[in-house]
Amino acid sequence: MRHLLKETDFRASELQGLFVQAREFKAQRGRHAQPLAGQTWALIFAKSSTRTRVSFEVGIHELGGNPLFLNAGDIQLGRGETVEDTARVLSRFVHGLVVRTFRHSDVERLATAGTVPVINGLTDFLHPCQIYADAFTMAERWAPGGDFLAGLKGRKIAFLGDTACNMANSWILGANHFGMTIALAGPADFAPGPELKALLEREGFAGRYEFTTDPREAVRGADVVYTDVWVSMGKEEESRERRRVLQPFAVTGEIFAAAKPDALFMHCLPAHAGEEVMPEVLDNPRAVIFDQAENRLHMQKAILAALAQARR
Ligand code: CP
Ligand code: NVA
Repeated sequence: MRHLLKETDFRASELQGLFVQAREFKAQRGRHAQPLAGQTWALIFAKSSTRTRVSFEVGIHELGGNPLFLNAGDIQLGRGETVEDTARVLSRFVHGLVVRTFRHSDVERLATAGTVPVINGLTDFLHPCQIYADAFTMAERWAPGGDFLAGLKGRKIAFLGDTACNMANSWILGANHFGMTIALAGPADFAPGPELKALLEREGFAGRYEFTTDPREAVRGADVVYTDVWVSMGKEEESRERRRVLQPFAVTGEIFAAAKPDALFMHCLPAHAGEEVMPEVLDNPRAVIFDQAENRLHMQKAILAALAQARR
């Protein structure tokens, strides 16, 4: 059974096909085939969501399937039924699972115990659907001819702020998988942690990132300046301290101007203007944040179609 739990679950050789499919779904919205016809996919969410939930619900529907949203707290999982039994039972009813939760090990356990594809819709560790949609957003601009991976190869992404969060982890893994380079700027104790380092090692990417406490150094020569919220879901108790220590890593107009002159600004959203990014950067025409959000739909439809195809 195929799953998308981390960025490398689609091999580099498969990514071009995935990007082409996303482009076709985007161009032919409302007129394309419905490879999920007759299927029901469950969305199990233990955290809030606007983009991921809505793009999956709409995407499954547009592919001919039926999305079934399950608040993790409303099913027996929330009252102590095991992850394994939940996976076994839901596998008897539905054709796939999209899961947003805290522990990354929970999506791995669902995938191991169940018999249907599992898509990681964000864990505390990784957010691969966002990374694929972001890479597609970059490639649309850098490879208009359609050789998407060639368009990404050798490009540099600079990630500023909470460099220990799921988005930073995912971009370190994703950038390496796509042939890009990545520099991160954050406080010294927000450097990549042991869980990510172990994963990079297993994937053959050990040490392949730059980490600095100087945001100007990170953005030098960057094709993309990326940031994320300072207080990820589940970290609310640390809000005050995080706002204090992360303040020097805000993406200001001056920092953005220190990247390449044609650099893009990207953010997975939701954004907090005046915190991790200043309003003048969000308003810059090179901020492509709503294209990223839209592309969640098209790329996830490509992922769903690929995983449904692999089940046959
Ligand atoms: N970027 C993202 O995953 O947004 P949501 O939390 O709204 O799904
Ligand atoms: N790092 C953020 C991403 C939200 C899409 C969080 O986990 O809350």
